[in-house]
Amino acid sequence: MQLGVSSAATQIEGGDYSHSWNDWYQKGRIHDGSNPARACDHLNRWKEDIDIMAELGITIYRLGMEWARLEPVQGSYNDDAVQWYRQLLLYIKGKGITPLLTIHHFTNPMWFESLGGFAAAENIPVYLSFVEFVIRNFGDLVDEYVTINEPNVFAVLGYFQGLFPPGQRSMGAAFHVQSVLAGCHIQAYSLIHKLRSEMGYTNTKVGFAHHARVFSPKSKWNLWHRLCSTLVARFFQGAVTRACLLGRFVFPLKNICKMPGGEYADFLGLNYYTRSAVSGLGDGVAEGVPVNDLGWEIYPQGIAECAGELYSLLKRPIYITENGTCDNNDNFRSRYIYEHIKALSESDLPVERYYHWCFTDNFEWCEGESARFGLVHVDYESQKRTIKKSGEFYKAMIKYNGITDEIYKNYLTQEKYHYGNIKT
Ligand code: BGC
Repeated sequence: MQLGVSSAATQIEGGDYSHSWNDWYQKGRIHDGSNPARACDHLNRWKEDIDIMAELGITIYRLGMEWARLEPVQGSYNDDAVQWYRQLLLYIKGKGITPLLTIHHFTNPMWFESLGGFAAAENIPVYLSFVEFVIRNFGDLVDEYVTINEPNVFAVLGYFQGLFPPGQRSMGAAFHVQSVLAGCHIQAYSLIHKLRSEMGYTNTKVGFAHHARVFSPKSKWNLWHRLCSTLVARFFQGAVTRACLLGRFVFPLKNICKMPGGEYADFLGLNYYTRSAVSGLGDGVAEGVPVNDLGWEIYPQGIAECAGELYSLLKRPIYITENGTCDNNDNFRSRYIYEHIKALSESDLPVERYYHWCFTDNFEWCEGESARFGLVHVDYESQKRTIKKSGEFYKAMIKYNGITDEIYKNYLTQEKYHYGNIKT
């Protein structure tokens, strides 16, 4: 299994662009008030960041592109931004790192939001034009693509729970958005293959990054908890996975674009973080379990369970496109990584890649700068980067191609999780 790192444009780049997360910030919806225009200033510090990545021995990197920066006005593109991404990609490749490019990771330009965003099926061609623009401008530098990051999280948090932009609260809208996004993914999958093959490339890989968690009934003796956990698993992740991977639209999703059944992924992208204890139509955390600094349960076996579910639907190589934890003081991140990778290696699944979330601490959406997920610490005031102990651990694992007794002793024996259902 190759070990790499993951990031997303809005979370690291900084810069004042007219997009949905800038707007969310203006509306006061970031808990600690941090402004995504600052983030990690990767816009100016990209070289330093890629140098640190190379120093860790990283050879695979999942990164994103900021749609609002590349296409500030519908149909009109920013050539400086194109040149910036091209030099970044060339530098990444020059360091022997293979990029996996995410085309959409949560953030929409405001002009797209005003058209109705992904709540309007008529906007699918607008997203596809951006996909085409990306391939025409970067297709010579990138072979591997994630069409959309976590369609379910985008839809549920933005349209049902009201926590992400645009802040709606309708279950029906969240299902509709998932159906639209599945249509987007399937069409982008075919479009990217078509365009790249016209350009003469035969090594294209396309998938989407699916957010999955384990849903367990809070009490396994309680019938209502059991029923809800089955329903929530289907509504949150089961239906959208089938739609995106196979073009099979089951209740509550609808095949709005009349997509034919098929096989729409060259790899199975999985973002895994936690397990939910279900007692109703929502989320929850069991009592007394190990949790991270945001109160999310740490449940390493779940990564193999979720990967196994994806693999049962479609036999493709598995890429863990994200896995990581909020550990503000880097007290248990190494142990978290070790246990999740161990669970994967003990399964008999074809897990080819593991992209740790995240490379540096970054702008963690609603939590802003206060939730730290990085292998590299960022002091947001000075923008100084410091490799954390977990970053050194990751580097050692890459160097020795696994865990030696020495690595275990140096990095893992002192690490302890928090226990109990806490929320900081
Ligand atoms: C998202 C990331 C986010 C991470 C941690 C994932 O759902 O893709 O952007 O930072 O979770 O919350």
